[in-house]
Amino acid sequence: METWMFRRLTTIPRHFLARTACAVLLATSCLSMANATDATPAKPYVVKDGHVDMNTYKGYLYYGDQCMRCHGPDGAGSSYAPNLTQSLKVMSKEDVENTIINGRKHVDSSNDKVMPAFGTNEDVVENIDNIYAYLLARSDGALGRGHPEHMKP
Ligand code: HEC
Repeated sequence: METWMFRRLTTIPRHFLARTACAVLLATSCLSMANATDATPAKPYVVKDGHVDMNTYKGYLYYGDQCMRCHGPDGAGSSYAPNLTQSLKVMSKEDVENTIINGRKHVDSSNDKVMPAFGTNEDVVENIDNIYAYLLARSDGALGRGHPEHMKP
C-alpha cells in the first residue's frame, strides 16, 4: 500500500475522533456554564444609573441610624469595628444576620470590642434584609460611598 493511503486511513479517523470529543466537551461545558448561571442567586439590590431600589435605600438609612456609629460611614469600618464591605465578601448572609441578631464580643486582656445584639430592636429586625442588601451593594462595588439616590417607589 502507498504510504499516503496508509496515513489517510489512520489519521483521518483520529482527527474525526478528536473533533467529536471536542464538540462533546464544548457542549458539556456550555451546559454546565448554563447551570452555573441558573444557580447564582439573584442580588438582593438593584442599582441603576446610581439610583437604588427602595429596600436598599431603607437599608442605607437604617445602617446610618444603627450601625454607622461603630462601623463608620458607608460600611467602611473604624478603629473600633470591622470594615463591613470586606466582611461581606467572606461572610454568608446567614452569618451576617446571626451576628446582627446575637451581637458579638471580642473581650480579653488586650481587646474590648463589643457588638450589641439587635434581636430586640424592631427597626433593625424588620430591616435586616434591607441592611444586608445595602451592605452587599457596597461590598460588591455596585454602589459607591455617600448618600445614594433612590428610584421612584
Ligand atoms: C457599639 C458598636 C457597634 C454597633 C452599633 C454595631 N456593631 Fe457590628 N460589630 C462591632 C464590633 C466591635 C465588631 C467586631 C467584634 C469582634 O471583634 O468579634 C462587629 C462585628 C460585626 C460583624 C462581623 C464582621 C466580621 O468581619 O466578622 C457584622 C456583620 C456587623 N458587625 C454588622 C453590624 C450591623 C449591620 C450593625 C447595625 C445593625 C452593627 N454591626 C452595629 C460593633 C458594632
